[in-house]
Amino acid sequence: MNHSFTIPLRSALGNLSPYSPGKPIRELQQELGLSDIIKLASNENPLGPSPKALEAIAHSLSDLHRYPDASTVQLRQALAAHHQMAPEQFIISNGGDELITLIAETFLEPEDEVIICSPSFSEYEFGAHLMGATVVPVPLSPSFKFDREAIVNAVTNRTRWLCLCSPNNPTGTFLPREDLRYILDALPKHVLVLLDAAYSPFAHESDYTDGLEFVRSGYPVIVLQTFSKLYGLAGLRVGYGVGHEMLVHQIAKVKEPFNVNTLAQIAATAALQDVEHVRLTLKSNHEGKLQLYHAFQQMGLPYVESTSNFLLVELGAAAKDIYESLMAHGIIVRYGGIWNLPGHLRISIGNIEENSVLIRAISDILACE
Ligand SMILES: Cc1ncc(COP(=O)(O)O)c(C=O)c1O
Repeated sequence: MNHSFTIPLRSALGNLSPYSPGKPIRELQQELGLSDIIKLASNENPLGPSPKALEAIAHSLSDLHRYPDASTVQLRQALAAHHQMAPEQFIISNGGDELITLIAETFLEPEDEVIICSPSFSEYEFGAHLMGATVVPVPLSPSFKFDREAIVNAVTNRTRWLCLCSPNNPTGTFLPREDLRYILDALPKHVLVLLDAAYSPFAHESDYTDGLEFVRSGYPVIVLQTFSKLYGLAGLRVGYGVGHEMLVHQIAKVKEPFNVNTLAQIAATAALQDVEHVRLTLKSNHEGKLQLYHAFQQMGLPYVESTSNFLLVELGAAAKDIYESLMAHGIIVRYGGIWNLPGHLRISIGNIEENSVLIRAISDILACE
């Protein structure tokens, strides 16, 4: 059909393009005619969803004719008890992704600057561009560590938002507590900090911080958390922000009333109590990480030590071909090109069987090169 629309677009759209997700399992199944696909591309939980969450959802299906609780009271109370903070300090969002957009909509004007470490999760850039703000990238070091001096030096009068992802996606490296403190103490009062701690449950280093201690001490920090990773509820879309209640109150003004559906609220509340699923998930991730480290060492492939549930592995000039060959074997990983890391793949840590299939496939592909 031939359209003759001349509806002007917001100029901010010039900087936006649709999110490029990991290839969905069904799409690859259809393309390859394979029934067994292994998806190690979106850092999901290889054990599946929390059984307690599934049970809770099953009991609530007959209430689906009702609108969700717009204030997410039960989930906020459960989170407040879980973290020993006040319910008013929590805002629940449609996945952590939505929290990022909500923060952008609350605080950013087109003349503002947003500092984003690079490479990192793409949604911060999306939020900044959505509001027409300017992105100021600060590169990580060559070994993907955070450069606290460079971050502080990037601050100007126009800086409104600093996005820090720790553990960082896609590198798996983290920002040590004392570096975060250094940055927070150096920032002028007009800068809001997002500490994206989506992968914090997987980080066990003694100098790691999930940022909550800084929220408790009154810094202008909003911590992002999600039920997509540890709790295995990515398909339901539920995440949250934790911050000073004055900040949270402002963010709540831009949120759609029913942004988090009923099943997501019920599942998340139940998953928080699912201590056994959490234990098994962390155990599986730890074992899977060691399995992959060992295999990459044996194959002589450099990788970045990860504090998370994924690994960045270096394959050099052949990375894209290997990514495509893996896809042809029915294994979906993430090609590093999307983060300007054309020699790397980001691989989510799967269960022992999935990792074994991946290792065999990489080693077969390398043997044919
Ligand atoms: C660093 C980081 N933050 C936030 C999210 C958002 O997760 P969700 O929207 O599923 O809660 C992701 C998802 O992959 C992520 O990698």
